[in-house]
Amino acid sequence: MTVPGAGLYVHLPYCASRCGYCAFVVTTDGSSRDRYLSAVEREASLLEAEAAGSAFDSVYLGGGTPSLLPAGAVRSLLAGLRSRCRIGENAEVTLEANPEDVTRDAVAAWRDAGVNRVSVGVQSLADTELSAVGRRHDAAKARAALESLARSGLAVSGDLILGLPEQTPESFHASVAGLCDSGVGHVSVYLLEADKSKTIEEDRRRRPERYPSDDLQAELWGEMSADLATRGFDHYEISNWARPGREARHNRKYWSRTPTLGLGVSAHELWAGRRRANVANLESYLGQVEAGRRPLAFDLPVTPEEAAREEIFLGLRVAEGVAAARIETFVTADGDVSLWNDYETWLAEGVLERRGDRVRFTERGFLISNVVLSRFV
Ligand SMILES: C[S@@+](CC[C@H](N)C(=O)[O-])C[C@H]1O[C@@H](n2cnc3c(N)ncnc32)[C@H](O)[C@@H]1O
Ligand code: SF4
Repeated sequence: MTVPGAGLYVHLPYCASRCGYCAFVVTTDGSSRDRYLSAVEREASLLEAEAAGSAFDSVYLGGGTPSLLPAGAVRSLLAGLRSRCRIGENAEVTLEANPEDVTRDAVAAWRDAGVNRVSVGVQSLADTELSAVGRRHDAAKARAALESLARSGLAVSGDLILGLPEQTPESFHASVAGLCDSGVGHVSVYLLEADKSKTIEEDRRRRPERYPSDDLQAELWGEMSADLATRGFDHYEISNWARPGREARHNRKYWSRTPTLGLGVSAHELWAGRRRANVANLESYLGQVEAGRRPLAFDLPVTPEEAAREEIFLGLRVAEGVAAARIETFVTADGDVSLWNDYETWLAEGVLERRGDRVRFTERGFLISNVVLSRFV
């Protein structure tokens, strides 16, 4: 298959410690790191024939904590990928970084290695919240990291979480303001997924007073969105805001169903009409790649029915929404009368809106998007 603007994701699972809320596939045991980096390159070779002819215009080094790698390892990893996949000179190359790893030297080395965008896991700019979830950085360290990245001229994104223990309306709005004032061009705000972590789930059940309630989170989300708009950020996807021209090219591919390949433990991909995922177990990943096999947990064709569903539930995530004809054909053909009724209600109540020949979430609708999207999954 030949794809002109494909994406390449690489999962780097190593972390210095595990944060209380995190459910990504990570390890705090770095002893296999060099073996892992060789395995990722070997896996890229296994894909070489499939990727041949395609041009990649985005690479995303995600984790885990890619910024924990020595700078030389980032350089040789990117060089190894470039020698096996056609990665354009102007490709967006993002590295996820934890604030404590962002030093002047590290930033310079990432840039020399070909990284041109850094996504920083700020999470909050309040020390009480950061220590409540076991982050290794404090607010001062996050601010220093953002400042040094701003000076570097690299594109910078910052992640925040709404719903953290000890978070108040004041502290949340101050985190948003502080992040924007640091000069980032892109902001991601995630609602804390408490059910992804046993520790957080149990703590929230035992001590709910430590957490902003769901109603309060909804209120804060709306206020934040309005605040970001006045600061010049466009709300282009449910959890993502960007200054003009600063949208994440790679992430956009997931919502537009543009083909992406995935390397590394637990990595997912959409390629040649198939959805595939690598195994989530590190030893199994290493063993299979070293034996010369793709370490796939599943490899399934996307049926036309699934493709139609994906187009709707991924397309509705972005501000442009989806073609009205697409969603209406689907809702009608589905045969589920309640889905049609719900669709009409969402439009009538201003959860969804029709703009020309597109249907999209309203700003208020984004808040309850989970309910709507789950009907199409
Ligand atoms: C791959 S993760 C971690 C990146 C980086 N290692 C860090 O910790 O900053 C990317 C982002 O997902 C978000 N995230 C992780 N777990 C989450 C959870 N349980 N609920 C909501 N957001 C979460 C965080 O904002 C995080 O920055
Ligand atoms: S949030 Fe980041 S640093 Fe913390 S465990 Fe998850 S991937 Fe690692």
